Amino acid sequence: MLNIALPKGRLGDKVYDMLASIGYDCPGYYEQNRKLVFESPEKNVRYLLVKPSDVAIYVEHHAADVGIVGKDILMENKSDVYELLDLNIGKCRMAVAAPEGYVEDPDRTLRVATKYVNVAKDFYAKKNRDIQIIKLNGSIELAPILGLTDVIVDIVETGSTLRENNLKVIEEFQDISARFIANKTSFKFENEMISKMLKELGEQIK
Ligand code: PRP
Repeated sequence: MLNIALPKGRLGDKVYDMLASIGYDCPGYYEQNRKLVFESPEKNVRYLLVKPSDVAIYVEHHAADVGIVGKDILMENKSDVYELLDLNIGKCRMAVAAPEGYVEDPDRTLRVATKYVNVAKDFYAKKNRDIQIIKLNGSIELAPILGLTDVIVDIVETGSTLRENNLKVIEEFQDISARFIANKTSFKFENEMISKMLKELGEQIK
């Protein structure tokens, strides 16, 4: 049976619908309950509902064979998995943003708030820019408003969170979307099933 790690929430539901439409449906998935595991012995699949930021951890450690995860999480975790397919959904951008009217002083250490510590470090290392990172776990936009940091590094989808908090994008530096990933050992030993799923998913992509 192939173990599939799905991110809990809207993206996971969308991916489940894609997989169900190509024959990997699973009874009970849409029942309103707190179950985290759904399986279909006939279809040979088991779905594991995990926190979006944990999908790559389950796959890397072989608790799941394959998974669906945002490129932002893959970049941040530097996960040792195979990235097999860009699903072209869950699209957004990784960006630097700051309050309207902010002007950077290049002589001072830049204070950066983010959930994506590694992504931010790598981005500024390439620019040789001295930074101090404040790691937050959500509502990142508050940090520069309160003067906790100068800028944020975060994902921007519609841009409305930035707009409604009087922040502006300074630089967008990475396109993000959902990726189909596989555990390296599973890819070797479950290759037939994973390759079949990969091909069928590929045909679904718009
Ligand atoms: C994400 C991100 C931004 C927002 C961007 O936050 O951190 O705050 O979405 O989307 P937008 O451009 O469409 O407004 P999320 O909703 O995950 O909540 P969080 O603040 O708890 O991280």
